[in-house]
Amino acid sequence: MNLPQRSSLSKYWQLDENTVFLNHGSFGATPTEVLKKQGEYRQKIEKDPVKFFERDYIGYWKESILTLSKFINADPEGLVFVTNATQGVNTVLKNLDLKRGDKIIVTDHTYQACRNTVDFVTKSAGAETVVVEIPFNVKSEKEIIDLILNSVCERTVLALIDTVTSPTGMKMPFEEIINKLEKENVDVLLDAAHGAGLIELDLKKMNAAYVAGNCHKWLCTPKGSAFLHIRGDKKKDMRPLSISHGASFEGNAQDKFEFEFSWPGTYDPTSWMCIPKSIQHMEEMVDNGWNEIIRRNRKLAIKGRRILCDELGIEVPFPDEMVTAIASIELPDKEIPPFSIQGDPLHNKLLDEYAIQVPIFPWEAHNTRYIRISSQLYNHIDEYEYLAKALNECV
Ligand SMILES: Cc1ncc(COP(=O)(O)O)c(C=O)c1O
Repeated sequence: MNLPQRSSLSKYWQLDENTVFLNHGSFGATPTEVLKKQGEYRQKIEKDPVKFFERDYIGYWKESILTLSKFINADPEGLVFVTNATQGVNTVLKNLDLKRGDKIIVTDHTYQACRNTVDFVTKSAGAETVVVEIPFNVKSEKEIIDLILNSVCERTVLALIDTVTSPTGMKMPFEEIINKLEKENVDVLLDAAHGAGLIELDLKKMNAAYVAGNCHKWLCTPKGSAFLHIRGDKKKDMRPLSISHGASFEGNAQDKFEFEFSWPGTYDPTSWMCIPKSIQHMEEMVDNGWNEIIRRNRKLAIKGRRILCDELGIEVPFPDEMVTAIASIELPDKEIPPFSIQGDPLHNKLLDEYAIQVPIFPWEAHNTRYIRISSQLYNHIDEYEYLAKALNECV
């Protein structure tokens, strides 16, 4: 089969022309212009690293914090940068003062790295991880809300809720869940790894205790760029994972909070410095900017999901309203192959024989395998048709 075309906007990215790239969801992909900007920042640092870190660094930090806080409507005074969503989730969980018998809610769609962190802290404290089972074929958002709310008890202290789940690509009704759990005195740690640039995020409106989110996925910033937002009433109990110079700083509470989180030790800060550039560059690629990007990518993923289901003769799982720019379907061959360090055999076959980069998730919690497509501005509908044909030949 000849390789399918990409969208005309793919000219802004450096993706390999010989690969059908349908996995924006795992690590994002950064446009050439943004990488160029990152290179310029690196040059600036290396011209005089001392001058940069002494005089310029904090100005860039503030500029990026303000730009991002506008984009996700967050309180800039509660917003800090971390390297990735996993680090944000770790920061919150490791700061909790868990008592024996306390409970933390997760779901059976929770990203494994975050689930591991929850298990780590609950085990250390003699607390418990409560796993809410959510069927892949849910009929409505209400079903999910009820399942989560029904698992709350008086010892529930926190719920780790996804904006969009990773293996199953399901948009959670997270705003309503946060609202209802708050009324039950349960804090929410929102895992917004798939958030900014994928769906509308309004942090002030949702008012979650904690939000950890990535910029390097759907804002297309360079890798290592993510944020943690901590609500005002939780800030005094939150310390960064790396205790550094800020710990001995004696200033007002806000300055100390910013100092502690903004200086984890010497590192390359250029990924988050590119947030303003990335937001602006992407916005300029299409008329109506980010609203159009979110709408267009979602529409393509919904179409792509439909094409795959039709080709494989399976039902579309949950309603379109719960689909964003990532969408998963269950593979007809549900059997989970034996673990191999080389990865899932179907993933490898699709890559090696059809040049398709698409993830297959063997998901033990559901005893099945999912294939997940992504759509970004560089993708074209033909790529999903091509995947569907390839899948049909393989499964
Ligand atoms: C739901 C979810 N949470 C957390 C993460 C972790 O993101 P990162 O590897 O950037 O820390 C991912 C990554 O795909 C994810 O999908």
